[in-house]
Amino acid sequence: MKISDVRIGFVGFGHMAQVIFRAIDRSKLVPHSQILFVRRDSKKIKETEQTFRITSTSLENLVGTCDLILLCVRPSQVSSILEDMALLDLKGKMIVSILAGTKISFFQRYLGVEVEILRVMPNLPAAVGEGMTLLSYGPNSSVELKSLAHLLFGCMGEIAELHEDLMDIGCGMSGSGPGFVFQLIEAMARLGEKKGISYQDSLKISAQTFLGAARLILKGGILPVHLIEQIATPKGTTEAGFEKMRELQLEKNFQSVIEASAARSKAISDNLNQ
Ligand SMILES: NC(=O)c1ccc[n+]([C@@H]2O[C@H](COP(=O)([O-])OP(=O)(O)OC[C@H]3O[C@@H](n4cnc5c(N)ncnc54)[C@H](OP(=O)(O)O)[C@@H]3O)[C@@H](O)[C@H]2O)c1
Repeated sequence: MKISDVRIGFVGFGHMAQVIFRAIDRSKLVPHSQILFVRRDSKKIKETEQTFRITSTSLENLVGTCDLILLCVRPSQVSSILEDMALLDLKGKMIVSILAGTKISFFQRYLGVEVEILRVMPNLPAAVGEGMTLLSYGPNSSVELKSLAHLLFGCMGEIAELHEDLMDIGCGMSGSGPGFVFQLIEAMARLGEKKGISYQDSLKISAQTFLGAARLILKGGILPVHLIEQIATPKGTTEAGFEKMRELQLEKNFQSVIEASAARSKAISDNLNQ
């Protein structure tokens, strides 16, 4: 099936679904007429139809009509939806979940082991085409679903395929990761402001410093350890900062931040599987 022929149904149309929709829309992969959504709030349904020029429907009609069903609700909201979906004919349907901490086996418990499912962890920078999306395939994921997923999520930025056992740490690193980077950028910007730079200038300096450093690694193809050697002139300014980082055990502590997020992802799946 060509991507332009695929009918996509969003189950839930909150923050992340909107980011995904806008990326699909920007890249003109699928016409609006082939996209349906369900959500609960009638006021928001109307707003969504007007803002995004897509049509709301019932879950039953969405499942009946769409080839690819994108589950975009929160983990705590998904069980009742899966119970309803289990009553519908899912033959030939491709199910894609973006839910944090929700394992493929959890969906299979409701929808049957033969269901074709893909687990995805997108992130917020997809809003500007700089996303990092992690894909984990279920045992029945067809070549067709894999190639559709590459097209669909490729238009949001970069993609990496991970074994499902690594999705919790992947969630901490890239699903939640932008949040930690926002905090670090804000901390640097506020310091600049405290020292007398306007917040606007300070935020630009801070964000561009993160962006430039990341681009140098990704586009320059240089490993961070080599860049660290280059920048850390003995007795220089950066070296002084590195000494403080070591004293504060910043590297280890930052890793603990990500591990806390990964642990929450695992706790969600443990909870759902009880
Ligand atoms: N936000 C991120 O950065 C991010 C990153 C990676 C993955 N995720 C995952 O993405 C999922 C959604 O997150 P979000 O931030 O987009 O949440 P959100 O903004 O709260 O969106 C949830 C959506 O689900 C809808 N919904 C809830 N129960 C429903 C039901 N029974 N039937 C139909 N629609 C229902 C809500 O509709 P109403 O608004 O009409 O009530 C809302 O549109 C989560 O599982 C999260 O783990 C999020």
